[in-house]
Amino acid sequence: MYYSDEIIEEVRSRNDIVDVISAYVKLQKKGSSYFGLCPFHNERSPSFSVSREKQMYYCFGCGAGGNVFTFLMEYENYSFVEALRYLADRAGIDLPEREYSDEERRRADLKAVLLEIQKTAAQYYYVQLKSPQGNAALSYLKDRKLSDDTIKAFGLGYSNKYSDSLYRFLKTRGYNDETLVKSGLITVDEKRGPYDKFWNRVMFPIMDANNRVIGFGGRVMGEGKPKYLNSPETMIFDKSRNLYGLNRARSSRKNYFLLCEGYMDVISLHQSGYTNAVASLGTALTSGHASLIRRYVQEVYLTYDSDEAGTKAALRAIPILKEAGIQAKVIRMEPYKDPDEFIKNLGADAFEERIQKAGNGFMFSLQVLEQEYDMKSPEGRTGFMREAARRLTLFEEEIERNNYIEAVAEAYHVGYEELRRLVGKVAVQNGLAKPIEKPKSLRRREKEDGILQSQKILLTWMVSSDKVFGQIEKYISPEDFTDGIYREVAGLLYQQRKEGEIQPARIMNAFTDEEEHREVAGLFHTRIKELTSLREEEKALKETVIRVKTHSIDEAARMLDPTDMAGLQRLMETKRELQKLHELHISIN
Ligand code: GTP
Ligand code: MN
Repeated sequence: MYYSDEIIEEVRSRNDIVDVISAYVKLQKKGSSYFGLCPFHNERSPSFSVSREKQMYYCFGCGAGGNVFTFLMEYENYSFVEALRYLADRAGIDLPEREYSDEERRRADLKAVLLEIQKTAAQYYYVQLKSPQGNAALSYLKDRKLSDDTIKAFGLGYSNKYSDSLYRFLKTRGYNDETLVKSGLITVDEKRGPYDKFWNRVMFPIMDANNRVIGFGGRVMGEGKPKYLNSPETMIFDKSRNLYGLNRARSSRKNYFLLCEGYMDVISLHQSGYTNAVASLGTALTSGHASLIRRYVQEVYLTYDSDEAGTKAALRAIPILKEAGIQAKVIRMEPYKDPDEFIKNLGADAFEERIQKAGNGFMFSLQVLEQEYDMKSPEGRTGFMREAARRLTLFEEEIERNNYIEAVAEAYHVGYEELRRLVGKVAVQNGLAKPIEKPKSLRRREKEDGILQSQKILLTWMVSSDKVFGQIEKYISPEDFTDGIYREVAGLLYQQRKEGEIQPARIMNAFTDEEEHREVAGLFHTRIKELTSLREEEKALKETVIRVKTHSIDEAARMLDPTDMAGLQRLMETKRELQKLHELHISIN
């Protein structure tokens, strides 16, 4: 870190989190915390909390959380250093420039220059589109039914017919070749010299969630190959962590996104009032995209192309979304290819009908499966139902599985009880033939989740009550926290307590990554069941301590080298102590 811990801590402590966040979110005091509508996902009732005591925020809906630095990193998309600079300025603190290492300054400056180049290029392309040279491009866009407002809102442009015109323009702005190559917009060829990546294409600037241009897509006008050319990934352009249209969709009032494949789909949907449309950038959906989406919504309607490739892409996307906690539904667009064509032919209202009719991802996958069977013959239908039953066995949770069995029974006109028996039979057959891998690992994950949950509860307790901390401390040490980040955080908390004051927000200074901040904030904000009496609280505390300790001992036993006699001895000792703990009464008072 190029700034000292002291200066970072000074900046943090002189910017009260409630004051800073109040400038962005309307907050209301409720108990010891402030609550408001979460700016990181769409919601109707406030689950976004800010604590003056802890100097942290946390959203119980989407899990966004952190300290005052994290908030600006997430909201403004600042880097850590940018957030630090902003807050130092806000509090009137002079940052010592020399603490900023050369390497870091170079990177930060380069990033700023690359953003500036993208923005300059976007302006240049826009001017080209509106100039006489851009006539053909403009009529192409008009033919595709884009209005002037839409063209402006999306900043569409045109790269003209000369192969180095952007290069020459950027040179007049004083950028050197090396930087221009890093922008991805210019290529330098030994023989040909420098030339533009894009020419004679309509240009789609790609913006990050905060409206900063980070790259481009360029489409040929009419036929030609490649149809789309996209910017390469650069220091500021990561395709698997950005979505086209997100800068606008994030502020739409809908609680779901329309996820499509193409730039033009997003634009025509927005033009028709569906301002919640986004697209992945010419790449398959990644888990990075999914977790980005999850910050804003919990539900996604897939409107992928209705051809085979689109169907495959949808089938691939569904589990990725599910993994991130997002429910997927699929919109059918037959007989049209994509939302753009659909809307052009049938209009926005017809599209709304398709949204209403969208089926859930699982049912969609069965519709695709139907095509592999002759559904008119008894054998074909039986084969299909067997495979459907097999897929139904994969739902771990009984209630969910039964709900799907019911839906499938209804859709394919078979009896619910018959189908349920078939699912049971298939499950047993598969279970006997070979142990089902997935549910097993799922169960283990659930158990791990359970123990991590207990560790989280302890951490939340520790930062919330000094008395409870005092009790926990007697039995649990930082080493008993089994996950890397939990252990690190626990270590820092114990140290703070020894030094006299618990400051959870300060602990985050040890981490600079937003995802880590989110996780750490989560550790301090676990919802603990309302406990009505002190006795109940003491009982819960004792149980949690025992659970965490037992797990820690089990882990230690698992890791133990069987020839390590001293280690074995220590382990036996701890086990005996654990036994005693069961009989003990933990008192919080
Ligand atoms: P049009 O309506 O024909 O303008 O295209 P579209 O927006 O419907 O896109 P399409 O469904 O053809 O492709 C989906 C997305 O994949 C596009 O928006 C691009 O990001 C990307 N893509 C399409 N064709 C190419 C190509 O030839 N090369 C690359 N790299 N990407 C492409
Ligand atoms: Mn299209």
